[in-house]
Amino acid sequence: MSNAIESVLVENRVFPPPEAAVKSARISGMAAYQAMCNEAEKDFEGFWARLARDNVVWTKPFTKTLNESNAPFYKWFEDGELNASANCLDKHIGTPVENKTAIVFEADDGAVTQVTYKELLARVSQFANALKAQGIKKGDRVIVYMPMTIEGVVAMQACARIGATHSVVFGGFSAKSLQERIIDAGAVAVITANFQMRGGKELGLKSIVDEALAMGGCDTIKNVLVYMRTPTTCNMVAGRDKTFTEVLQGQSTECKPEPVNAEHPLFILYTSGSTGKPKGVQHSTGGYLLWANLTMQWTFDIKPQDVFWCTADIGWITGHTYVAYGPLAAGATEVIFEGVPTYPHAGRFWQMIEKHKVTVFYTAPTAIRSLIKAAETDEKVHPKNWNLTSLRILGTVGEPINPEAWMWYHRNVGGEKCPIVDTFWQTETGGHMITPLPGATPTVPGSCTLPLPGIMAAIVDEQGHDMPNGSGGMLVVKRPWPSMIRTIWGDPERFKKSYFPEEMGGKLYLAGDGAVRDAQRGYFRITGRIDDVLNVSGHRLGTMEIESALVSKTDLVAEAAVVGRPDDLTGEAVCAFVVLKRPRPTGDEAKKIADELRAWVGKEIGPIAKPKDIRFGDNLPKTRSGKIMRRLLRSIAKGDAITQDTSTLENPAILEQLAQKS
Ligand code: WT7
Repeated sequence: MSNAIESVLVENRVFPPPEAAVKSARISGMAAYQAMCNEAEKDFEGFWARLARDNVVWTKPFTKTLNESNAPFYKWFEDGELNASANCLDKHIGTPVENKTAIVFEADDGAVTQVTYKELLARVSQFANALKAQGIKKGDRVIVYMPMTIEGVVAMQACARIGATHSVVFGGFSAKSLQERIIDAGAVAVITANFQMRGGKELGLKSIVDEALAMGGCDTIKNVLVYMRTPTTCNMVAGRDKTFTEVLQGQSTECKPEPVNAEHPLFILYTSGSTGKPKGVQHSTGGYLLWANLTMQWTFDIKPQDVFWCTADIGWITGHTYVAYGPLAAGATEVIFEGVPTYPHAGRFWQMIEKHKVTVFYTAPTAIRSLIKAAETDEKVHPKNWNLTSLRILGTVGEPINPEAWMWYHRNVGGEKCPIVDTFWQTETGGHMITPLPGATPTVPGSCTLPLPGIMAAIVDEQGHDMPNGSGGMLVVKRPWPSMIRTIWGDPERFKKSYFPEEMGGKLYLAGDGAVRDAQRGYFRITGRIDDVLNVSGHRLGTMEIESALVSKTDLVAEAAVVGRPDDLTGEAVCAFVVLKRPRPTGDEAKKIADELRAWVGKEIGPIAKPKDIRFGDNLPKTRSGKIMRRLLRSIAKGDAITQDTSTLENPAILEQLAQKS
């Protein structure tokens, strides 16, 4: 067990929700929470039907709530029709929200732009008309490869408006990753920008799109639409590439939203699994939107006067649900930030909270840990230098938060008066699953506490039997929920196998995380992935994906095994064990080759996947049947003494060699 998990298990500090939060919250007090859980237990479908009627605008009301006949391919609200963009924008027209600021955008250089709901609707509508004019229509897939900008959200919303399914690819992914996603999705267009601005640097995006398309296999792409983020020109291919200005020319700012079926795929978002190939997680429109809106109200208790800031990029699920859809569906004012937390200084987040009077702030433990470190080395970037009294709720997401970081966040950012919602969820779940409620749940550092009403989370053993509180096991969800993954794009078999394994009865949703509930409160603590997925700075990476990238360097690499090891800053770090097609290098040569391999992985997947450690061996530790012994590699990566039984190991001498850093 890692130290982080041990310290969480002995954690006994409890923080009741502040009086003020309990008074004003929608779900006020534990009795109210419990009552909702009971309602869901007693009348599961009735519970969800009520919420879906009250929180979604349907152009055609649904009559069926849940269809389980083809489980695990569940259908929610299947005969209902709606439009996601209309639920985020049109809905507010004619209400006091229409002239309210929807987005406050702060650019990398600090310049601020604002749009009201009315203006945003006009921009989305105009861009939707531009998409239609390019021949893009309902059911088409569109890749969005955009920086954090208002235009990024406009692109997503415009796709939703015409019923096109978007697939956002994070701007940090490589040309190769982009090409794979374009091919897998069979996309007809790419929406991108000439450059993105990060930390004062102008980084090419369009050039990466060009590179991806030149790799071949992307013949489905007919259009590349380019937002000119900076005045610098970029390569434009005649007939294929057009600027936003060109396509928007003469388009009306009114566009009737296309009603789609509740189950229509709103988006596909690729994420790492335990095989080499990323999975295209397919989400619905109705169920997804319901949960995006509801969790804004439940977890963040969002109110008309709130200023909400989620720091996630639109390239990740958090940026979908809590930047592009949820805040707008809830009629909130949200902050969108283009840059990085450490530029021009590591106090940027705190400075922005003060400047925009942010009331609800949502970020990742990795960011908190790196800002703690920065504040410890430089007083000037400590949060105490800014007025953060506007804050009322803090949130974290993406990985377990260590109690020390939680306490620092609580004291130095929240001024000891803001509840911290540690939200556990996944790309596949669409929105929050297990999280405190700010006006109800007493919080415990390092625990995501209790499931939201209607979410039937549990901990089971390998056969799917319930585990008693206090004993660890696998996290599952026993009943479907509206915003769950519908399938893996183009691979329904993989969907069934990955998430509803037969060995566990085929009915439990397997999250892929280990968890334990405490004996006293039944609170959940996530102990980390139980599959071959790593969590580096809150980003999900498949070990097999990195291994495939390494062995694809065929002139150099014979074999590779990738494992994670605990890292104080990034949570986990990538550690690669490599056998070369030449004698094992040492000293400077080993360093040189390690750098070359790092750069290669950066090219193949993206900079986030670059291994922190690379170790070379004449071989890898294998059993006599040829299986790589990963648990041994995990111990070596951690620097632990080998205490495991190595009697089945074919080549024990290799362990010592691999323990040496290059
Ligand atoms: C994995 C999902 C949820 C959006 C961002 C990540 C880990 C997520 C928590 C949390 C402990 C967490 C899990 C999960 N995770 N939130 N609050 N506490 N672990 O989405 O890329 O799909 O990754 O992130 O391991 O399975 P994702």
